[in-house]
Amino acid sequence: MIVPAAGAGTRMGGLPKQFRLLGGAPVLVRTLEAFAAHPAIDALVVPVPAAEQRAAEAMLSAYGLAAHVVVGGATRQASVGEGLKAVPEGTGIVLVHDAARPFVVADRIAAVVAAVRAHGAAALAVPVADTLRRGRGETFGETVSREGLYAMQTPQGARLDWLRAAHAAAEADGITGTDEVELLQRAGYPVQVVEGDPRNLKLTRPTDWALAEALWERRAQREG
Ligand code: CTP
Ligand code: MG
Repeated sequence: MIVPAAGAGTRMGGLPKQFRLLGGAPVLVRTLEAFAAHPAIDALVVPVPAAEQRAAEAMLSAYGLAAHVVVGGATRQASVGEGLKAVPEGTGIVLVHDAARPFVVADRIAAVVAAVRAHGAAALAVPVADTLRRGRGETFGETVSREGLYAMQTPQGARLDWLRAAHAAAEADGITGTDEVELLQRAGYPVQVVEGDPRNLKLTRPTDWALAEALWERRAQREG
């Protein structure tokens, strides 16, 4: 399991979002708890900003989370690449999940793991609900059919050998992708669609925060 957490969160502003509190604990902790508690997950690798490595190690151990904290890179892809170097020997399958998606649930993790076991690679996605249109300066350009389009989520997973080969090929070709599926497909590996969950938000903009707090509270009440 690799949880890239080395982003600066420029669209969110302020403290990098993965270290902001959600229901009283850092988002990164909330995200890792979902995986640490999952029977299919054996090891957690967490790329963080270089300046935060010590602090992140201390924070995760304070929350009782055993994770291998590594220094990430300038892009999400580079951070995942650093994570791939630290995956324990003998690992068969790797999932990658954005630190900024704390609402992932056990059932979706299990579904991705099962699809990777069966097909080699898989990712969560939800069909696009909004009408899509290109921008053309200050007015709109052409409409893009949403038919058959997915908004991608994480976790995304693959056999370790596939993911390593896909990342190495992208690096060699100077390609930067925004998720694992893009790199896997480029390298010729098919990726299975697994139904995502609209609640599995990626905290991105400042206005996401109030929604996240409300969702978290509701979830805590249900589980409580
Ligand atoms: N990420 C990372 N290393 C980077 C950039 C991003 O590990 N150099 C991680 C983020 O921490 C996040 C995930 O990749 O958990 C998805 O990235 P995104 O949502 O784009 O987060 P940020 O890059 O932090 O945000 P922004 O793009 O607004 O700056
Ligand atoms: Mg980013």
